[in-house]
Amino acid sequence: MKAIILSGGTGTRLRPLTYSGAKQLVPVANKPILFYCIDNIVQAGIQDVGIIISPETGQEIKDAVGDGSLWGIKIQYILQDIPGGLAHAIKTARNFLEDSSFIMYLGDNLIGTGINKFLDEFRTNSPEALILLKKVDNPKQFGVADVSKEGKVIRLIEKPDVPPSNLALVGIYIFSPKVHEAIDRIKPSKRGELEITDAIQELINMGCNVESFVLDAWWLDTGKKDDLLTANVIVLDEWLKANDIKGVIDDTTKILGRVAVGEGSVIKNSIIRGPVIIGKNTEVTNSFIGPYTSIGDNVKVTKSSIEHSVIMNDSELRDIERLEESLIGRRVRIIKNNTSHKALRLLVGDDSVVEV
Ligand code: TTP
Repeated sequence: MKAIILSGGTGTRLRPLTYSGAKQLVPVANKPILFYCIDNIVQAGIQDVGIIISPETGQEIKDAVGDGSLWGIKIQYILQDIPGGLAHAIKTARNFLEDSSFIMYLGDNLIGTGINKFLDEFRTNSPEALILLKKVDNPKQFGVADVSKEGKVIRLIEKPDVPPSNLALVGIYIFSPKVHEAIDRIKPSKRGELEITDAIQELINMGCNVESFVLDAWWLDTGKKDDLLTANVIVLDEWLKANDIKGVIDDTTKILGRVAVGEGSVIKNSIIRGPVIIGKNTEVTNSFIGPYTSIGDNVKVTKSSIEHSVIMNDSELRDIERLEESLIGRRVRIIKNNTSHKALRLLVGDDSVVEV
């Protein structure tokens, strides 16, 4: 069994963060989303991993992930020259995949469990495709599967007006090499992409056995801001189990609940109410850091109050009375000007959102 992780694409829904970086590297609880995908694949015992990258963000992904030695495996990179769709990505990886069965994992998906049971199901039943589904409240917004009582997939419909079920397609699939035949038979969709839903539908039309597996843990498509903040809340809640203080905390600081502080960080005269994670070489002074906040490396927070937010590396906040439910990118400075007139002075990139 091999695995490919899709980390190309354009990431339009996470702009402006994705103008300057790959969305798969946006952190949840200070760890890139893509790393959670690799963790899951490695925990399932898969050693042969290929990452699909785009010309725009490929180097950044390579720099962050490396050759796989962080996980004790070898990772290969496969360049997809255009974001031609998920089935196009499989086509691009044809040489790497050879005639092996494989997992396809979207690099911006986060699930609250491992994938071992999903793999076991594929090994037991040997279908041509096994697709992971999740019950959702709003199926009209997703790719939805019509499934028989036995779990066989009858058809797939993209964003249906009248959904045949509430089972949405999570971005994790297992395919036999038969999928390549199906991909060779499909044509680009209206939006010009080779769609994975069309390839799976083609497999069904060819008489192949396509089965489903319903996920009973949470699933978040972190390609959107609100999902990303939700993912941060869930991951901090579930996975930050105990205090882990490597930095320096002075006597006047209060640490309440589960808090992690990285090496080289200094917290002075502040209240940190967990769950909170603070990265390396970050300074927090005279501030309140409230629950469900992740602060990255080399950040400076002075006389400010933050809750339910993600602050990425190398940013600075000064004299900010209250910041909540915010996603702050890298190298951002948010500073209150303490002059008497109440003007805002902003330098804000394309597609940013500022609510004052
Ligand atoms: P999507 O979120 O469906 O597409 P996108 O990255 O273009 O994002 P947006 O809708 O915000 O513009 O992609 C799912 C995952 O698959 C994501 O990690 C990017 C990756 N991907 C590829 O690697 N190649 C592709 O051709 C496409 C379309 C996506």
